[in-house]
Amino acid sequence: MQRDHWTSRFGFIMATAGSAVGLGNIWKFPYMAGAHGGGAFLVLYLVCVLGFGLSLVIAELLVGRMSRLNPVGAYRKVAGGAWPAVGALGVFTAIIILSFYCVVAGWTIAYLVYAVEGTLTPTRAGGLDALFDNLIGSGLTPLLYAFGFVIATILIVARGVGRGIERASKLFMPLLVVLLLVMAIRALTLPGATDGLWFFLKPDFSALDGATASAALGQAFFSLSLGLGGLITYGSYMSSQQHLGRDALAVVLLDTGIAILAGLMIIPTMFAAGMTPDQGGPGTTFKVLPAVFASLPGGHWIAIGFFALLVLAALTSSISMLEPVVAYLVDERRVSRTKAAWLAGAVCMMLAVPVSLSFGAWQGVTLFGMTLFGLFDYFASNLSLPFGGLMIAIVVGWILGPKAIAAIGPAGSTPGLWAQGWLFVVRFIAPAGIVWILVQGLL
Ligand code: PFF
Repeated sequence: MQRDHWTSRFGFIMATAGSAVGLGNIWKFPYMAGAHGGGAFLVLYLVCVLGFGLSLVIAELLVGRMSRLNPVGAYRKVAGGAWPAVGALGVFTAIIILSFYCVVAGWTIAYLVYAVEGTLTPTRAGGLDALFDNLIGSGLTPLLYAFGFVIATILIVARGVGRGIERASKLFMPLLVVLLLVMAIRALTLPGATDGLWFFLKPDFSALDGATASAALGQAFFSLSLGLGGLITYGSYMSSQQHLGRDALAVVLLDTGIAILAGLMIIPTMFAAGMTPDQGGPGTTFKVLPAVFASLPGGHWIAIGFFALLVLAALTSSISMLEPVVAYLVDERRVSRTKAAWLAGAVCMMLAVPVSLSFGAWQGVTLFGMTLFGLFDYFASNLSLPFGGLMIAIVVGWILGPKAIAAIGPAGSTPGLWAQGWLFVVRFIAPAGIVWILVQGLL
């Protein structure tokens, strides 16, 4: 059987940007920035993304395109030895991330329902905080939404690459950007919002410490979908005629631009509402946005459009978490695509149960001082993804080396000088940066 592939360059960019752009940008980035000093976090985040994140995105895609395999098979083919274990860790991490990602995506679906019902008004009885707290603490309801989200993910992944993943992303990504622009402009013109703007854009250098650096590193990897082999898998469906460097740059700029837009939308709104930026936590986006909607003409419809697009953005990301797991099961274990998607999805749904409860009834159950959600997020973002990034840097920089440059293409062309610079970053800057930040974070 011929391996699936993207039907066009635009389709590849939209699907890969669809993977990168998701809840990480709109839900996680603003509250992480708020909790870690605003501008200081933003600077370190940009250093990680532009300093070596981009180069590692190229490296992952390249390994995928060279091997045309899932993460485990790809590491076996390009590096051999014990390296497939790194791919396996990535597949495992994809399952861990999806099991909390679907819970947050479930909240997004619930908010879409609230928006349709018209119950998202800031003046509602009990207030917006209570609306959110009731939802996440109510046991069954958030779980059913999370399950619905995983099932949607399974159905798309089961349809395969071109017909499922690519088609969905092409349509929704551009709409999301337009809506975010409108929301950010409105948020910035709310009374009291300018303090928030300064907090977000002006680095307070006293907040530049190991904890901020490791949070920024983890967020950069999470947002770029980097370090677990999702990009290896997406690269494996790429045409050898494609210009890897240019297309990866487009994806990274889109992802970073949307995170910044989301920051500009959420953080000034928090200041306008009199919240301190470190207070919000995972509920921030949900508690803060209704104020922006309420202050916009046609806010009811904007709320509906916004949450609908956010669900779709989450979906184009979640399919990129399920896809490496499915590719692994299909390539290595000879399971059919449909069966693999249901199997992996079912495991995520099972894990989502305790994760969802860790926001409610099991809030008090902690391990290493973290709830289960906190632990899953910490393991994935702060440990596994940066470790995966370090490993891809070693494989591409030191094991493949010049062979990587020869394969960077487009096929038949001689790569420009940029490829030498890229290899230098992958060899030296990326490993040094990741190790340095990981050590700072642990200290
Ligand atoms: N990049 C996605 C986001 O920002 O929402 C999350 C993600 C997708 C992480 C795919 C990891 C991954 F493999």
